[in-house]
Amino acid sequence: MKRLTVPAIRQRKGRTPLVMLTAYTVRTAQILDPHCDMLLVGDSLGQVIYGLPSTVPVTLEMMAAHGAAVVRGSFHALVTVDMPFGSYEASPEKAFESAAWLLKQTGAAAVKLEGGEAMAPTVHFLTERGIPVMGHVGLTPQAVNVLGGYGARGRSEEEAAKIVADGRAVADAGCFALVIEGVVEPVALDLTHGVACPTIGIGASAQCDGQVLVAEDMLGLFERTPRFVKRFADMAGLIDGAAASYAEDVRSRAFPGEGQVYAAKPPA
Ligand code: KIV
Ligand code: NA
Repeated sequence: MKRLTVPAIRQRKGRTPLVMLTAYTVRTAQILDPHCDMLLVGDSLGQVIYGLPSTVPVTLEMMAAHGAAVVRGSFHALVTVDMPFGSYEASPEKAFESAAWLLKQTGAAAVKLEGGEAMAPTVHFLTERGIPVMGHVGLTPQAVNVLGGYGARGRSEEEAAKIVADGRAVADAGCFALVIEGVVEPVALDLTHGVACPTIGIGASAQCDGQVLVAEDMLGLFERTPRFVKRFADMAGLIDGAAASYAEDVRSRAFPGEGQVYAAKPPA
């Protein structure tokens, strides 16, 4: 199976919904890859993998290490790596340097960056120079210190219009796909109709051309579960049960059993 390309993703606008999940590690990538059109190495790894309070402290080096692992663990899905806070906002040139380094380090096909009208020239600059960009508007977690929290966006007419304008600006600048996070349904609908590229929703209703979730959230492996997450498994429960069984077997000397012990003489 050939890996999906940026033009192939673009062409899915208005067709069968695009399936995207986050992945940060090789084994998770291997398991998710056959089911997904796209894997996102999200900077949500700051909270999910490293226990950081937000995505703000995430570094390019962290994104490169996890991005390379996910590329090594996948061969079907298109892999996009998040540009971390501070690595792209200052100028299009700075963004290009960071993005090119990320693609060289990881082998990923594309980068994602947060922001609207202010980032449109950067999206254009990168796209024109061979770096496909996925946009991200609505609730943009890297701006948590400006927004003041992670609440849904677009409830006031003014805010809704701003988000739609932001999404259009980066889409018109050349984004091949656009993540819409944490917005009320009419905003997702307006944006999906208003841009030429596929929209990928997270907490943004079914009015998008695709959906993304943080894999650990939908697997039931992360303690904070926002309203928009549906749990498709209880991995925390499974791991808890397995650890309890292991502990019991070690303490009762039931493990290791005969089957797990090396024979004194190898079988003839
Ligand atoms: O970092 C991330 O996981 C993301 C998705 C939630 C869109 O940006
Ligand atoms: Na992100």
